Amino acid sequence: MRVLLTGGAGFIGKQVTAQLIACGHEVRILDSFRPDVHRDGSTWTPPEGVELRIGDVRDNEAVEQALTAIDAVIHLAAKVGLGVDIGDLPDYAATNDVGTTTVLAAMARKGIGRLTLASSMVVYGEGIGRCPEHGSTVPGPRLESALAAGQFDPPCPKCGRRLDAELVPEDARLDPRSAYASSKVAQEHYTSNWARATGGSAAMLRYHNVYGPGLPRDTPYAGVAAIFMSMLRKGKAPSVFEDGKQRRDFIHVRDIAAATVLACERHTSGVTAFNVGSGRPTTIHEMAAALAHALQGPVPVVTGQYRLGDVRHITADSARLRSEPGWRPTVDFETGMGELARLDSSR
Ligand code: UD1
Repeated sequence: MRVLLTGGAGFIGKQVTAQLIACGHEVRILDSFRPDVHRDGSTWTPPEGVELRIGDVRDNEAVEQALTAIDAVIHLAAKVGLGVDIGDLPDYAATNDVGTTTVLAAMARKGIGRLTLASSMVVYGEGIGRCPEHGSTVPGPRLESALAAGQFDPPCPKCGRRLDAELVPEDARLDPRSAYASSKVAQEHYTSNWARATGGSAAMLRYHNVYGPGLPRDTPYAGVAAIFMSMLRKGKAPSVFEDGKQRRDFIHVRDIAAATVLACERHTSGVTAFNVGSGRPTTIHEMAAALAHALQGPVPVVTGQYRLGDVRHITADSARLRSEPGWRPTVDFETGMGELARLDSSR
């Protein structure tokens, strides 16, 4: 297939490029090299045979030209992360909402009907918890007063009891709690609008916390693994927020790339959301300890600090992706974190 990959010069995009080529596809990349991601101002030389176009997904003409003689689109280009402050709102909306709608409208004009969209687990907000009395339940937003008092787990909205985190399936309610999360929900909805109007197909991949070689670092939008690596490199202890027991699922970037390529190849009708996680929830403290161990750095410090936009636990059930396109993660947590520490030290 001839595939247009937006954001192909990014952390995930580079791995998707490599796997698309390995699977025999022709790849064209559209990437804007936005300065908050590519901070050293450098561009990147793509692998042989890959066509790189520098352009923004909000630029109608650039997108339309990039779509010439293309069979399928993988749309990764986005502004990621939690954001620095509320002033970031317009940039999330412009890059993620307007960028996606520009791509979708151009695909419709060109008659291209196959899309793979990078979405995120953050679309679920606090996800689902299990109350000993009320069973599966959707926690409400965490109150600042509770966080300040060190009550980090959102309680059962009916009886106030502690909830155990559950694996979230794709049909769970969407409940975005940050600008980034809102823009990912919007991207999914625009994609569904497009598919209904054009008959196109879309796989919407809700990625879990992605890590691995090339993890973006030293930017205000970096994820927690990159932040901990930076601290450890400076000889400082990783600073673990809340009580460190918040759960995530760290999934290796090569597994994410494999899921993305498989979805692009095999998902050919309808609109389907797929969670993409390793299936092994880990606490933030465990992750910090694994990195500190791999880098022989100081043990993590639990600070009790909190960020209002953070959700407590995000853990996915990726059964659908395993049973439909037939994806399997291959990199386990210890191996992946060890490799990350080793490679990062040599960067
Ligand atoms: C991350 C990604 C998001 C992606 C989502 C998928 C970033 C910034 N966020 O969100 O793009 O869609 O995974 O699941 O890449 N923490 C600390 N110490 C720190 C920084 C953070 O303990 O110095 C804690 C946070 O309080 C939070 C957890 O680490 O509980 C994860 O934070 P982070 O990686 O920023 O964001 P996610 O919400 O997991």
